[in-house]
Amino acid sequence: MRIIILPGQDQVSEWVADYVAGKINTAAHKPFVLGLPTGSSPLGTYENLIIMFRQGKVSFKNVVTFNMDEYVGLPQNHPQSYHYFMFHNFFKHIDISPENINILDGNAEDLEKECAEYEEKIARVGGVDLFLGGIGPDGHIAFNEPGSSLSSRTRIKTLAYDTLVANSRFFDNDIRQVPKMALTVGVGTIMDAREVMLVIIGYKKARALRQVIEEGVNHMWTVSMIQLHRHATIVCDDDATMELKVGTVKYFKDIERVAGFKF
Ligand code: GLP
Repeated sequence: MRIIILPGQDQVSEWVADYVAGKINTAAHKPFVLGLPTGSSPLGTYENLIIMFRQGKVSFKNVVTFNMDEYVGLPQNHPQSYHYFMFHNFFKHIDISPENINILDGNAEDLEKECAEYEEKIARVGGVDLFLGGIGPDGHIAFNEPGSSLSSRTRIKTLAYDTLVANSRFFDNDIRQVPKMALTVGVGTIMDAREVMLVIIGYKKARALRQVIEEGVNHMWTVSMIQLHRHATIVCDDDATMELKVGTVKYFKDIERVAGFKF
């Protein structure tokens, strides 16, 4: 696993946006299939990609996207729905074709069918080339809460109390307003991507980052499964490394230095 440690959120956002644009521009096959997260961590990446699009440095015409997750029962035009988030923070600013955007429908009549069809759609386009992700403070990826099967596929999940608390900041700090269920790609779905990249920012993710990097694969920290991925990268800021050993931080910084990455 590659771990890129940068001073702050701005540098992380720029780095990840440059990387994603580079992947799209040099893709050997079309369309390029991109897995996408919501949350505050990837916001800066989206902002940078929009700037690069406006500067003519990247186009999304040949990109198909699959979002990670969506709340169950929240109207798509609700400001906290992930449909709303993606449209307003990214899709409406770029040249992606609407038919190339895939987001789970948390209001589908048959939620299980919706999840099964999502997996089929991913398979039909040949799998995900690059899955971007964030993590929850409890080490979840997408909505794969602690204790989720590490080989899980897209399905309905009940959210952990920890997640309800963390996400209540988007719902007037009122935990009762946070949907209790979500549709989410599985850990297995993410692991099937040809490449996985996590954006991890801030002190509140430090405990999870330590588990992922310094401890073993464990279903209580579902994102730790990326230790087994053949092409995984974590891009984080200094604050997120707060709980890592000094030696761990130095080790991963040294590798990047050796590889010619400029700090
Ligand atoms: C939610 C999402 C995750 C995301 C997490 C962290 O729980 N389902 O996919 O990674 O929030 O969000 P943030 O980046 O805002 O901390």
